[in-house]
Order: sequence, then structure tokens, then C-alpha cells
Amino acid sequence: MVSTLLLLQNILGFTSASAARTRLSFPSLNLKWIAEDSFNGAYFVNVKVGQPPQTLTLVHDTGSSDIFIHSTVDTAYLEACAAQTPNDICFPGYANASSKTYKEIGPGKFLPPILGLPISSGSYITDTFHIPGATIQNQIIGSTWFAPVPFGLLGTGFPKVQGGAFQGTFPRYPSFIDRMVSDGTISSATESIWLNPSRADDDPDTFSDGHAIYGAVDTSLFSGDLVTVPAVEPKNTTVSQDPTNWNLAVGSIAKATTPPSANIIANPSSGISCIVDTGTSFFSLPNSSFVNLVALYPNAVYNDSVVGFPGFWELPCSERDNPANALEFTFINPRDTVTNVKISVPAWHVIWPAHNFVPGGDPDKCVLNAVSWEAYFGADSNVGRLFECVLGVSVMKSGYFVLDTGNKEASIARAEVKSRSSRLVAVPKGGVRKLRL
Ligand SMILES: *[C@@H]1O[C@H](CO)[C@@H](O)[C@H](O)[C@H]1NC(C)=O
Ligand SMILES: *[C@@H]1O[C@H](CO)[C@@H](O)[C@H](O)[C@H]1NC(C)=O
Ligand SMILES: *[C@@H]1O[C@H](CO)[C@@H](O)[C@H](O)[C@H]1NC(C)=O
Ligand SMILES: *[C@@H]1O[C@H](CO)[C@@H](O)[C@H](O)[C@H]1NC(C)=O
Repeated sequence: MVSTLLLLQNILGFTSASAARTRLSFPSLNLKWIAEDSFNGAYFVNVKVGQPPQTLTLVHDTGSSDIFIHSTVDTAYLEACAAQTPNDICFPGYANASSKTYKEIGPGKFLPPILGLPISSGSYITDTFHIPGATIQNQIIGSTWFAPVPFGLLGTGFPKVQGGAFQGTFPRYPSFIDRMVSDGTISSATESIWLNPSRADDDPDTFSDGHAIYGAVDTSLFSGDLVTVPAVEPKNTTVSQDPTNWNLAVGSIAKATTPPSANIIANPSSGISCIVDTGTSFFSLPNSSFVNLVALYPNAVYNDSVVGFPGFWELPCSERDNPANALEFTFINPRDTVTNVKISVPAWHVIWPAHNFVPGGDPDKCVLNAVSWEAYFGADSNVGRLFECVLGVSVMKSGYFVLDTGNKEASIARAEVKSRSSRLVAVPKGGVRKLRL
């Protein structure tokens, strides 16, 4: 992998990072983890909407594609968040009447594209949108007055699954990342995500902050090369011209021992299509791979009640300290057989405390932090039919992910613990492959 990448760069003579495209700051967001038993926890971000700006706290979600906010009149939201345990967190909704720059542009046209979600209603609106380092005028946003979802979302995926486009009620529109490109704030539609791989972050109740930077990479937060792979189709690894989600081809999952265990994926040359999703905590695999995964953990016992709902395999918590339980995920480029990048997920994220999943769960119990896609979602459900694999934050914490919706590709390296000062390098329009770090 390394040799091909470097060779290509040398032949084509790419811009060197030291050629002054380093800047001190880029638009960015702090990702704050909130442990919430009913949905396992999520990374929340503070954004501002309106004039004067109102602070809204949303879940960061690479698995959806709208800025989805609840209006203050959304009582379904208030009931849903109040029912969360143990924290019953309800962040304030959006008071459109208080914003001088609010405009409703698609009355009744915003339907959040969360599959399996109960009926919801909302409108597409435009308003001023602020994140640290950027203010965007007239950003299109989805605002609901009835959506029984206990949080709003900052979706950073592809336009195909914007709620209105997905449901056929509203045309595709430029995301806030696209808007930062068109107004010249950044050169590429990239979001670089770092979720802190530190061992000190082994307890999902107390994860420390992660962050996202737009239009740049922070070379102090990863090691090895950033390797670029294309977005692929949702249920096969054909390169996608019009991606649905952040689906990437995974060619191998094996225990990261020396030598590594057998690959649990049956067809390593084509691989499986997995969504990298900051809006999910655990990971799920096609049943055919999942049964092989379970076989790698001989102490695992299926237990319908250990986290309060079916799908999970119980393991002694001491297994979290056994380095031999780490899993190595290899992302591949289906266009060739040489490009690949491995990230190693440590035992303490492969195995999570059971109490992270339900209120009052047994603090002394742990589970394999993975489910069988078909068994968990139902092969015939909407979700079951549309996708086959999701890698949530427990996997993403081990990687540095540069997600480039403009070039429809992701660049991945091993995430590093923050130990030195940031070194930010702008990503040019052509993407990470045009960058020499
Ligand atoms: C705007 O606010 C009013 C209440 O002030 C509310 O009835 C309406 O549903 C809101 N619309 C949107 C799209 O948020
Ligand atoms: C891959 O998935 C896409 C989208 O679902 C579909 O159109 C295409 O036929 C599939 N290709 C193969 C080889 O299965
Ligand atoms: C499954 O977990 C529950 C809850 O912790 C426990 O009471 C039960 O004994 C476990 N079952 C098995 C087979 O270990
Ligand atoms: C998963 O695969 C196993 C082994 O082939 C099989 O026994 C089980 O029924 C499958 N489960 C689902 C939900 O497909």
C-alpha cells in the first residue's frame, strides 16, 4: 500500500505540505461524548442557528445527511428525550420566531431519513448556520415540529440520503460543508474525524472529547500514510458514482495476534460494504461473518438478557485486558489489489461493559460489542434490506478518517493519541491524494 501511494505522488509531483498551505485554523467542531444508556452514548456537537445565534446541541452523524433540528414546539421530541435514562437530557429546541434570518422554504417536506423511525413531520428552512470558524448564510436545514427522536443530528453524509431527496419530497441541496467550499472558506469538501484512541478512553461512560476539522487534516493525530479508498455501494463493494452512505470496502477482519487469526470475511477479494458511522456506538456484521467472529472468542456465551435486548454475546470483563482480543480491520480499494489500510481495534473496544447499553445493567458483565446484522435488524426490515454492515465509534476511534464527499472517497490512517501540538494542512480541491504530507 505504502509503495503505490508514494510512487504515484512522486510521479505526479504533488504539492508539498511545507509549501505554505499550512494555516493556523480551519472550521472545526468539538465532539463531546454523552453516555446515555438508552442509545449507548453518542458524540454531541454545539452549533449555532439563526440571527441572533441560538446554540443547538446535536449528535454528530456521518450516517445521515441533513442538519436535523427540532423546533421548540416539537413535543414528541420533548417526550422522547425526557424518557431517556439515566440522564433524561433535553437540549433546547430551535425558536424560529426569534431568528431574523429564518425562512421556511419547504413546508412539510422534511422527513428525517432515519430508517424505522415512527412518522415525523417537519419543514425545510433556511437560516444562518454557525460553527467555530465559519458562518454560512441561508443554509438549508430540516426543522421538525413532530419527531419522536430524543436528539437532533448534524448529518455529514452524501446528498442521496438527505431526508427530502430520500423520500422524494425535496431536491438535493448543498450541505454546510459544500457551502464552506463554495464561499471559499475551505478548498475541499472534507471532514477529518478523530475520536481519541487513548487507553485512558476505555470506558464508554466517560469517553473524552473528539473533534472534526473541515478542509484540513491534523497530521499530529495519525501515524503512517493516509490511504485513500473510494465510497462503495451499500450492499456490495462496487465503487459508487452516487454514494448512499459512507460505505467503504472491508477486505479482512481478523484477531490482531502474531500471526493473525483467520479472516472472518468469507470473500476477501471483494470484501464487505461497511458504513463508517459516528452515529452508532457498536458494530454489526453480515451474519455470515458474525458467526466467524464469535468463533474467535471461545469464552463468549449468547445471552438474550445481558444487555436487556437480544443479539449480544456475554464475555468475562477480564477479556477487555487481553491484548489478543484486539481486532484488525483492513479497508481495501476494490479497484486494485494493493491499496489497503489496517486499523487495529483494541480489546477494550471489541468488548464493552453491558451496563453501557441499558439502565441498571450488571456492572460486572461485559459483551462482545458487535451484533449480527440480520439477527439484530431483521433481514426483511428496511435497514436489513438496504445495508449489511456498520462500524460505529468503537471501531472509528482507532482510525483517523478524512471523509471527502466532493471526491467520494475516504482517506484513513491509524489514529494517534494527542501528544504534540496540532499541525493543520489544507486539503486541496483534488483531495488527500493531491497532498504530500
Ligand atoms: C416555527 O415556529 C412556530 C412557533 O413559533 C411553530 O409553530 C412552527 O412549527 C415552526 N416551524 C418550523 C419549521 O420549525
Ligand atoms: C451493487 O449494488 C448496486 C446498488 O444497489 C446495484 O445497482 C449493483 O447491481 C450491485 N452490483 C453487483 C455486482 O451486485
Ligand atoms: C445472562 O445475563 C443475565 C443478566 O446479567 C444473567 O442473569 C444470566 O444468568 C445470564 N445467562 C447466562 C446463560 O449466563
Ligand atoms: C446466522 O448464521 C448461523 C450459522 O450459519 C445460522 O445458524 C443462523 O440461523 C443465522 N442467523 C440469521 C439471523 O440469519
